[in-house]
Amino acid sequence: SNINSKIAPKLLGHSLNLAAIDGLLVEVDPTPGHQVIGANATLATSLAVAKAAAHASGKSLARYFQPEGKLLIPMPMVNILSGGAHANRSLDIQDVLVIPHAATNFAEALSWIVAIRERAAIDGKSHGVTHLVADEGGLGLSFSSTDDACEFVLAQIELLGLSGKVSLALDIASTQFFSDNKYSLTTSGKTYSSDAFIEEMLNLVNTYPITSIEDPFAEDDWSAWSAFSSQAPASLQILGDDLFTTNLHRLERGIAEKSASAILIKANQNGLVTSTQRVLSHAHANNFATVVSARSGETEDSWLADLAIGWRAGQIKVGSTHGSERTAKWNRLLELEATEPSRFSNPFA
Ligand code: PGA
Ligand code: ZN
Repeated sequence: SNINSKIAPKLLGHSLNLAAIDGLLVEVDPTPGHQVIGANATLATSLAVAKAAAHASGKSLARYFQPEGKLLIPMPMVNILSGGAHANRSLDIQDVLVIPHAATNFAEALSWIVAIRERAAIDGKSHGVTHLVADEGGLGLSFSSTDDACEFVLAQIELLGLSGKVSLALDIASTQFFSDNKYSLTTSGKTYSSDAFIEEMLNLVNTYPITSIEDPFAEDDWSAWSAFSSQAPASLQILGDDLFTTNLHRLERGIAEKSASAILIKANQNGLVTSTQRVLSHAHANNFATVVSARSGETEDSWLADLAIGWRAGQIKVGSTHGSERTAKWNRLLELEATEPSRFSNPFA
């Protein structure tokens, strides 16, 4: 309704210039995050314009953003186990993911992941299924601790002969269980101060082959982020999602305070294609890694794959390999790898 009544009258007759139309959308709703008409309305419009402009110039959306040269196919970070708000809190943390860091191309990477997801679904039956397929297509199994969940996924990796080739990534999504300055876990019943939770997170990343950790601390617990970053292994990717909410000002603070080393990029947190790209470019200019990400609620559209490639993000997070709203993105990445000159990104080599 907002698109038809508030946005359309401004756009009718306008030429297909993405930056100019994004500027008009800001005029329609200048509030931060476009709260009045909603970021999903502004983003849908902005993306439709980007797609139309690409189409009018005879290009794919990926090639609209990168007209020349080899495309960079992003390293996937793929959900195997889901917990937190995505799976009825069967596990405290939101995602246990895998990164196929030793794969030489995207097709190989994806084939390893599909095998791990399938094996985990079979083995998971002994783990008291509470919510078999979670919001992002991951398995919602019950584990009494994050350690147990990590051990379970590592066992699947080992059984497939992929040890050392596939590492773990975690999305702690800790804002969800932070209140009154405490981190409270449901499964173990334990409560942690920020300092104690820093120790807990350091233990985790020092015990398991974890290459990336997302939102280990709550979105406003800035001092915990900096303290953790200064003590964590230099090779660990420390990824801010809720911390940054794809917002330039929050990213600037995170760069200044050395809170993290990477940012999750969610276009509908930001609201416009051009300003989302600006956040990503600012991250790259400051040596931050970028992970373009889908949401727990998704459609079958595959624009995210094109943007991740066209923007040379280096990494992508789309949920699991289950569900057509997920596979649409994986299939699009396979298609671009097979049909365009490209190279597979490996930030963890
Ligand atoms: P959300 O989860 O879309 O529910 O925010 C995705 C994520 O946290 O990475
Ligand atoms: Zn997250």
